[in-house]
Amino acid sequence: MDMSAISQQAVLDVLKTVKYPGYSRDIVSFGLVKEINANGGAVSLVLQLTGGSAEAAAKLKADVETALRQVKGVEQMFVEVRGATAAGQAPSPIPSGQKAKVPGINRVIAVASGKGGVGKSTVSVNLACALKHLGASVGLLDCDIYGPSIPLMMGMHDKPTISEAEKLVPPVSHGVKLMSMGLLIDADAPVIWRGPMIMKTIQQFISDVEWGQLDFLLVDLPPGTGDAQLSLCQTVPLDGGVIVTTPQEASLGVVRKGIAMFEKVNVPLLGIVENMSYFIAPNGERVEIFGHGGGRSEAERRNMPFLGEVPIFVEIRKGGDLGIPVVVSDSQEAPAQAFINIAKTLRDRFA
Ligand SMILES: Nc1ncnc2c1ncn2[C@@H]1O[C@H](COP(=O)(O)OP(=O)(O)OP(=O)(O)O)[C@@H](O)[C@H]1O
Ligand SMILES: [Mg+2]
Repeated sequence: MDMSAISQQAVLDVLKTVKYPGYSRDIVSFGLVKEINANGGAVSLVLQLTGGSAEAAAKLKADVETALRQVKGVEQMFVEVRGATAAGQAPSPIPSGQKAKVPGINRVIAVASGKGGVGKSTVSVNLACALKHLGASVGLLDCDIYGPSIPLMMGMHDKPTISEAEKLVPPVSHGVKLMSMGLLIDADAPVIWRGPMIMKTIQQFISDVEWGQLDFLLVDLPPGTGDAQLSLCQTVPLDGGVIVTTPQEASLGVVRKGIAMFEKVNVPLLGIVENMSYFIAPNGERVEIFGHGGGRSEAERRNMPFLGEVPIFVEIRKGGDLGIPVVVSDSQEAPAQAFINIAKTLRDRFA
């Protein structure tokens, strides 16, 4: 047997033909394949589920083994499927735009960033209020379990109530329905959860919350593009993703990680928002603190829409701290108009 006969690529190619049980999407694009090792005639694989029944896991293992037998040179195989939970539970990887769309919710849009502190939550909050301002019905889901900032930025601290159907009723602030870990636990309570618990909670934020009829549900993802964010993108049935970047971050290529994350899970990219684009000093001088235009040029390079830019305005920061987003307090002013224009572009992408 030729020791180099099995290539990882051949294994990957054949895995791309294996569908997640019950779905039309393949396990590679779901991001379930965590490890592939080929050694001599032996292949070992690790598949990581984020939930899913033991039954689905067994079916998956059998399907993968059948597929692997087609790869030339494979004599032995070790397929490990991790992360299945008790039977009967819905599998968490929900293909976007395919089967398991959320009833009543028209579009689910994630807001992501390559790294923290670029103003992702600020953009999520103001875009949600801007879409509302344009007449849409909107929900905002904060998936940042460890650092939820949506309640503060939306000025909402009421706990969700429980409906007769035993579902969480999202509190409404500035006309937007909200759900966040920050609404469920006290601000200073430490969150020491592990990944699977978070996934379960996020699943419940979709399935056990009475969102009602929504034109848009915006999802504020935690900062970064690692495994945790990737799992979230699989857990929430997304219709599209928006990437927020600063000009500086864009020039450093961090945006690419965000693009790659959405591509991995087959979530269509709706475009890039450049935040903290520039600053207008009191004397009217325009100061490009982090450079300018990196978001637009990266979008052009990647052949994807540029949704717009948001300059640095003190009012934006103040609005966040006060819990009254600028789009709500001063909708006619320049800071609000920046977000409203982006919201229009975003809305029209679905028209
Ligand atoms: N365009 C802007 N003009 C002025 N201040 C801004 C702007 N965008 C964001 N900020 C401020 O920058 C700080 C960080 O913003 P924000 O919390 O939205 O970032 P984030 O990317 O969500 O951060 P994290 O990674 O912690 O989730 C906040 O104080 C916010 O008010
Ligand atoms: Mg944030």
